[in-house]
Amino acid sequence: MSRPVVAFTRQYFPDTAEPLAHRADLRLSPADEALDAAGIVRHVAGCSAAVATTGCPFTASVIDQLPELRLIANVGVGYNNIDVAAATRRGIMVTNTPDVLTESTADMAWALLLAAGRRIGDSERWLRDGQWNRWAIDLWLGADLHGTTLGIVGMGRIGRAIARRAKGFGMNVIYHNRRTLPAGEDEGARWVDKAELLSTADHVILVVPYSAETHHIIGAEQLAAMKRTAVLVNIGRGGLVDDVALAQALKSGQIASAGLDVFENEPRIHPDLLAAPNAVLTPHIGSATFRTRRAMCDLAVANVADWLDGKPPRTLVNK
Ligand code: DGY
Repeated sequence: MSRPVVAFTRQYFPDTAEPLAHRADLRLSPADEALDAAGIVRHVAGCSAAVATTGCPFTASVIDQLPELRLIANVGVGYNNIDVAAATRRGIMVTNTPDVLTESTADMAWALLLAAGRRIGDSERWLRDGQWNRWAIDLWLGADLHGTTLGIVGMGRIGRAIARRAKGFGMNVIYHNRRTLPAGEDEGARWVDKAELLSTADHVILVVPYSAETHHIIGAEQLAAMKRTAVLVNIGRGGLVDDVALAQALKSGQIASAGLDVFENEPRIHPDLLAAPNAVLTPHIGSATFRTRRAMCDLAVANVADWLDGKPPRTLVNK
């Protein structure tokens, strides 16, 4: 009987695929390039499992062209690159990598909040540019975080980890979620509706998955509802925020600053955001620590190994 073939749609760590080598034939990615839909179809053709990640589009049409495919193991907790409904219809299992990246991603949300609030990006550029010639009482004044109200949109695992960190900063935390969390799971935060969150939070962090329902949950209207002193952080997905409206709000002073790790058309960034000195921009590195990125790859591969061993994958999305 022929061995199953597992495709890797990107290059991961050199030893990532090793645990599968004795169970399956491996089709590794020759170059670390994000494959487009046609590239995915070509690379994954004839394979029964694929290890994918953000930016690898497993759309309904791609899935339809891969009749042998039985499993897509995504490296990432987010899986909006996969049409899960189409996969489910075709009997394809989809897995993700929850939990292992929760704490690192929460750390990064805080890094962005601190950097944007305390103007670390623009003051550092100014210093490196040789412009610092004296200390001054009003030099690079920023926002306080301690003692203020933090609004978290999306109180899943990462949202809760962000809320836990807020306690150390003496912050009052409010959150908006589809459902109210039971006491004991809410990290002491209070559920409010979205309008109240935007108007009362001193700072707002977005950490919801991207879907048709969450597309542009922050646009011109929502930015206008926020405090002019507010910092907005997006650690969730590009597409949650209307980047053009945000660039305009940053320019007009409608909000004070933003910390963004994800963008609508990444890796292409809207030029008005690139030009905004009051935005701290990072290249989708929320989970990018040595330990966490390895743990994500290991978990994706463990899901494939489970399936090859005839067991249910441990972190199945479409149960
Ligand atoms: C995730 O885990 O979803 C990260 O954004 C990497 O894709």
